[in-house]
Amino acid sequence: MISAEKIPNNVNLSSNKRLQRALEHWQPKYIQWWRDMGPQGFQDYHQVYVRTAISVDPKGWAHFEYVKLPEYRWGIFLADPIHDRRIGFGDFFGQPVWHEVPGEFRNQLRRLIVTQGDTEPASVEQQRWLGQRCPSLYDLRNLFQVNVEEGRHLWAMVYLLHSYFGRDGRDEAEELLERQSGNRDKPRILEAFNEPIDNWLDFFMFTMFTDRDGKSQLMSLSESSLDPLSRTTKFMLTEEAHHMFVGETGISRILERTCQLMKQSGFSEDVRKIGGIDIPTIQKHLNQWFSLSLDLHGGEVSSNAASYFANGLKGRAKEDTFDDDHVLKEASYRMEFFEEGRPVTKEVLMRNAMNEVLRDWYVGDCAAGVERWNKILEHHGISDRLRLPDRKFNRNIGMYSGFHFDPNGVPLSDEQWEKRKFEWLPSPADSEYLLSIMAEPVYEPGKFANYIAPPRRGINQLPINFEYVRTES
Ligand SMILES: [Fe+2]
Ligand SMILES: [Fe+2]
Repeated sequence: MISAEKIPNNVNLSSNKRLQRALEHWQPKYIQWWRDMGPQGFQDYHQVYVRTAISVDPKGWAHFEYVKLPEYRWGIFLADPIHDRRIGFGDFFGQPVWHEVPGEFRNQLRRLIVTQGDTEPASVEQQRWLGQRCPSLYDLRNLFQVNVEEGRHLWAMVYLLHSYFGRDGRDEAEELLERQSGNRDKPRILEAFNEPIDNWLDFFMFTMFTDRDGKSQLMSLSESSLDPLSRTTKFMLTEEAHHMFVGETGISRILERTCQLMKQSGFSEDVRKIGGIDIPTIQKHLNQWFSLSLDLHGGEVSSNAASYFANGLKGRAKEDTFDDDHVLKEASYRMEFFEEGRPVTKEVLMRNAMNEVLRDWYVGDCAAGVERWNKILEHHGISDRLRLPDRKFNRNIGMYSGFHFDPNGVPLSDEQWEKRKFEWLPSPADSEYLLSIMAEPVYEPGKFANYIAPPRRGINQLPINFEYVRTES
């Protein structure tokens, strides 16, 4: 039974019996989904030291305790309301924000919420076997922290569907538990969320690049005129930051260890011989997850994106940092097109280029992260550098899909691509190697797998050798 006490919330759930009943009806299905499709082998006999949000103030959402995963207190939290908040962009600029869903935008809003909501359980499904191959208890805890919070993000979207979309919303909430990542008949909506994540290099790249797409989408939704959507996504962003921390520092620690192993072997590139992950392999996985995550931003020229912006449903990330023009009726955007084998720059209406505007923000945010990684290589006196591939590389959505490019953006024929693609993307042999060094999980407190360095510090100021996941005897 859900009660206001059992389900932490700041939406006064107990005062809305109808909504409370609807969520009570959905909750057991959610728990069943979590057991079936969540972390495999860690449901009943393990206690995990996780952060549980119990309110939105900084103290409340940094509350740590040991819990069994199915008993995690998935709550519903909205960021505090802003008094007299006004619509910040589009055709209704300056008008008061909405506290109910306007009938004419109901379908579009539902679509946006469902698409966002679908990614949350999908990533839990993708990652469900990783616990059995973890490099340390510290990392195992981080994985589960990310997983329970993605579960909470699903709750956040389901709350909106149940509260504002009536019968349709309830149906959508059910379907969010029915689609499955990688399932042929009922796949998740977006492609990157149907790719398996069965090794930890993929997990860290996913949390670095795909959770960062989550950040850009949530930032643009947090600008929304629909106030509850804005406040929900704003609070989700505070949790998202930790997911990207896990990804960025995970790769940093792999790089750190790779550098150590390279030195040990007399600056040999071939660290696989001593169980490390070589830089070219790291680069291939970067290429894969960056390009998949670029696709998540949608087509370059998009009338849907234009309409979302015009109607005030989905804005630009940090709309108020753009000067003056928040309506963008006439504004244009210089975009590169690919015509007859060469790039041509053209002006398009800014509103139609909204996906690309958000992608620009995203690429900049990723590039800064890659710079930080390169500092580690530099620090160790190693001349290799990681880099983001060109935006045209390995795209399956938008104007570059159907063509092939190398990571420098040079066009390739189908034959050239087929011949060379595994120079730039993980090959079956690479995956096999990664699985071979991850076959034995490391469950001893303070111990780390050979291919990754320990973190600088533990979680919540605890030591690195703290027992972050306890096994019941
Ligand atoms: Fe999320
Ligand atoms: Fe996330």
